[in-house]
Amino acid sequence: MTRISRIVLAAALALAAGANARAAETGWKLERAGVDVTDRASLQSGARTFVNYCLGCHGLALMRYSALTSIGLTEEQIKDNLMFTADKVGQPIATAMSARQGKEWFGVAPPDLSVIARARGADWLYTYLRTFYRDASTPTGWNNALFPNVGMPHVLWSLQGERALRTEELMRDGKPVSDGHGGTVKVSRFETIAPGSMSAVEYDRTVRDLVAFLVWAGEPHQLARHQLGIWVLYALVILVFLTYFLYKSYWKDLH
Ligand code: HEC
Repeated sequence: MTRISRIVLAAALALAAGANARAAETGWKLERAGVDVTDRASLQSGARTFVNYCLGCHGLALMRYSALTSIGLTEEQIKDNLMFTADKVGQPIATAMSARQGKEWFGVAPPDLSVIARARGADWLYTYLRTFYRDASTPTGWNNALFPNVGMPHVLWSLQGERALRTEELMRDGKPVSDGHGGTVKVSRFETIAPGSMSAVEYDRTVRDLVAFLVWAGEPHQLARHQLGIWVLYALVILVFLTYFLYKSYWKDLH
C-alpha cells in the first residue's frame, strides 16, 4: 500500500468511526421505511421534495439532472421544475452552498447525500427525518431523537409541525419500573406543539418517497437491473422448455 492510500484509508476509517460515534449512541428504535424503488410516482415525489427542501444544503454530486429521465421525467419537466442549481441537464445535482459556508453556519458541513442511503440504510433515514423535536438548548433550536445534537435543523417542520420530546419513567402499579441496573426504565414520546400543513399519514408518505428517491439515487442502475433480471428469468424458463422438448424428441425413437 502506498503512503497516500494509507492516509486516505485512515481518513475514511476515522470519518466512518466519527460519524458512528456521534450518531449511533441512542437506542432509538428504527422504523421500517417500506420504500419501493420501482414506484416512479413515489420517486418523482421524492425528487421534488429533495430539490425543494434539501438541495439548499446537500448535493447529490454523483448524479446528473439528466439521470432523472430514468424515473419517468422529461427533460422539459426537469428543467422547469427541478433544476435550481444548474443550467444544463448534463450537470451534476450539486448544492449551491460551499462546504466552507456550511461549516460556518452549522458547525458541520452538510455531507453530500449521493450514497447516504447505502451508508445509513433506508430505515435509518426514514426514522431520522421523522424524529426532530424542539430543543431550546441547541444552536438551531432543534434536536433529533435518533441523531442527538445533530447540526441540521428540522427543515420539514412546516409540513410535520413542531413537536417536543417528553421522557418519563415507565410506571407500573404506581411505581417506576426498574431497569435491573439500579436505574428506571424511561419512555419517550412526542407531543405536538403546533401542527404542520400535513397529517401524520401524509408526512410519513412524503418522507417515505424522499427516502425512496435517496435509495434510488444511491444506486440509479438498480431499476434497469431489476428489469433485466426479469427478462433473464423469462429466457431461462423458455430454455428449460426447449431443452425438455429436445430431450423428449431425442429419446422418442429409442424406447
Ligand atoms: C439548512 C441546511 C440543511 C438542509 C436544508 C438540510 N440539511 Fe441535512 N444536514 C445539514 C447539516 C449541517 C448536517 C450535518 C449535521 C451533523 O453532522 O451534525 C446534515 C446532516 C444530514 C444527514 C446525516 C448525515 C450523516 O451524518 O449521516 C442526513 C441524512 C441529512 N442531512 C438529510 C437531509 C435531507 C433528506 C434534507 C431535505 C429534507 C436535508 N438534510 C436538508 C444541513 C441541512
